[in-house]
Amino acid sequence: MRILRACSSLTFVTVFILIIVLVAPYLTCTQGFEFNPLIQLPRSGLAGTRPRSKRILFVGDFGAKGDGLHNDTMAFQDAWRTACSRSGRIKIEFPSGKTFLVYPVDIGGSCRSKITLRISGTIVAPEDPEVWRGLNPRKWLYFHGVNYLTIEGGGKINGMGQEWWSRSCKINSTNPCRHAPTAITFHKCKNLKVRNLTLLNSQQMHMAFTSCMRVVASHLEVLAPAFSPNTDGIHISATRGVEVKNSLIRTGDDCISIVSNSSLVRIRNISCGPGHGISIGSLGKSRKWEKVLDVMVIGAYLYNTQNGLRIKTWQGGSGFASKITFQNILMENVSHPIIIDQYYCDSKHPCKNQTSAVQVDNISFIHVKGTSATEEAIKFACSDAFPCEDLYLEDVFLVPCFGGRVRSDCWGAHGSTQGLVYPSACFTGFDDFLRQKVGPESYSVFHSI
Ligand SMILES: *[C@@H]1O[C@H](CO)[C@@H](O)[C@H](O)[C@H]1NC(C)=O
Ligand SMILES: *[C@@H]1O[C@H](CO)[C@@H](O)[C@H](O)[C@H]1NC(C)=O
Ligand SMILES: *[C@@H]1O[C@H](CO)[C@@H](O)[C@H](O)[C@H]1NC(C)=O
Ligand SMILES: *[C@@H]1O[C@H](CO)[C@@H](O)[C@H](O)[C@H]1NC(C)=O
Ligand SMILES: *[C@@H]1O[C@H](CO)[C@@H](O)[C@H](O)[C@H]1NC(C)=O
Ligand SMILES: *[C@@H]1O[C@H](CO)[C@@H](O)[C@H](O)[C@H]1NC(C)=O
Ligand SMILES: *[C@@H]1O[C@H](CO)[C@@H](O)[C@H](O)[C@H]1NC(C)=O
Ligand SMILES: *[C@@H]1O[C@H](CO)[C@@H](O)[C@H](O)[C@H]1NC(C)=O
Repeated sequence: MRILRACSSLTFVTVFILIIVLVAPYLTCTQGFEFNPLIQLPRSGLAGTRPRSKRILFVGDFGAKGDGLHNDTMAFQDAWRTACSRSGRIKIEFPSGKTFLVYPVDIGGSCRSKITLRISGTIVAPEDPEVWRGLNPRKWLYFHGVNYLTIEGGGKINGMGQEWWSRSCKINSTNPCRHAPTAITFHKCKNLKVRNLTLLNSQQMHMAFTSCMRVVASHLEVLAPAFSPNTDGIHISATRGVEVKNSLIRTGDDCISIVSNSSLVRIRNISCGPGHGISIGSLGKSRKWEKVLDVMVIGAYLYNTQNGLRIKTWQGGSGFASKITFQNILMENVSHPIIIDQYYCDSKHPCKNQTSAVQVDNISFIHVKGTSATEEAIKFACSDAFPCEDLYLEDVFLVPCFGGRVRSDCWGAHGSTQGLVYPSACFTGFDDFLRQKVGPESYSVFHSI
């Protein structure tokens, strides 16, 4: 209620500000960019025959074969270089029905133009990890320093990760632990749109935004087998202003992970699973100072995932995870539906407890319903030195997937609840008078979310 009320009174102002914030950069830039085409229009109109050719580049015209066998990397680079040096809006087309084999490639800005890559066909990676010998093992398609890039087209980007997976130390512990490529990375990009694409079988993470600003990712399908190691769906790092919406993510690791100094993250209408759920962190590894601030996940369906909504931090780090809301979440067969873990430790050696930790505060879980695959449906394992503050649970209803019971476990967790909360919150010092007035029986699991 607290938040709902605040929202409704602020809606008008927020929408107004949003419009200004979203539209302002376009206004100034469009004026600058539209001048050229306007001046050229009469001329190309008189010339008559090929009005599209300057605005739409086909990779085939740059030598791409699109047969899945020839190396189409240079054609992509040449088309990009041409598009980048022009002004106005330029499209680069990867036509449907064709498969473009692209080797590891750096695609850089800054460009005079605003480029749209229309991928209607398929872009595939080389299958053999040996291709990366001598190259950065973490990159395949690497975009950096590009402003106003849009990628769309309904096509596929296939990382052909099978051989990478079988060489992973998570699949076979006799293998050495090595990095594998993120299929698509956007680094230091601004005003980026990625939509209407299928990402398949990445070598490791599927898509990462690192040090970007103003990103919208939508209508994506991200698909890899549940066993594929570290194949996160969408990874958000040091990025401010990201919207991820209307997408389906089924992979072997986090559907969405949000780390290191990211803020203003909005996630809406996501279907996730199998995978490891929606994860904030890990934060504070190797004594780092890190923050994640202002995240809203509104509308998510989590299915057969290992975790549901998770915040994980290492002992010994510092910084904070704050202003985070998870709202309208439906879960089915999720092993750890709600979990805050300030003792996260993903190393071979056990991690010692430390006197510092990443502060976790102002975290809300509102309308979270569904089934838990384990007994421990809610876990708040907070640190002694930096307990979790201002946790808030409203209308949380998690029942066992296969009968039995569910419980919540707390350590160093402070907060409040409203409405029905089941299993009941275990905050220290919480007065559960209100909660006892409402019985869980009056709620159905799949109450509309
Ligand atoms: C593919 O083409 C790119 C760009 O010309 C080149 O750097 C790369 O070495 C080529 N790879 C192979 C295996 O031919
Ligand atoms: C995705 O792209 C395809 C091919 O261009 C198009 O037909 C379809 O309408 C697009 N879908 C969305 C949701 O934009
Ligand atoms: C793991 O890798 C080792 C060495 O490459 C190999 O001998 C072994 O058969 C592999 N095990 C499995 C289960 O694939
Ligand atoms: C939610 O996302 C799915 C794709 O996963 C899409 O088909 C559906 O239209 C979206 N719903 C809304 C209300 O946008
Ligand atoms: C996060 O911000 C802190 C403080 O500004 C900085 O020291 C740290 O390097 C940043 N980390 C990343 C991954 O950007
Ligand atoms: C529940 O999820 C686990 C993965 O976490 C999966 O192995 C199992 O098959 C799922 N059960 C059902 C009934 O879908
Ligand atoms: C807590 O977070 C919510 C959004 O999740 C925000 O509206 C509110 O102002 C925050 N409270 C404080 C004390 O920062
Ligand atoms: C760290 O502290 C927690 C909470 O006090 C305790 O449960 C845990 O056993 C400690 N771990 C180690 C390795 O000392």
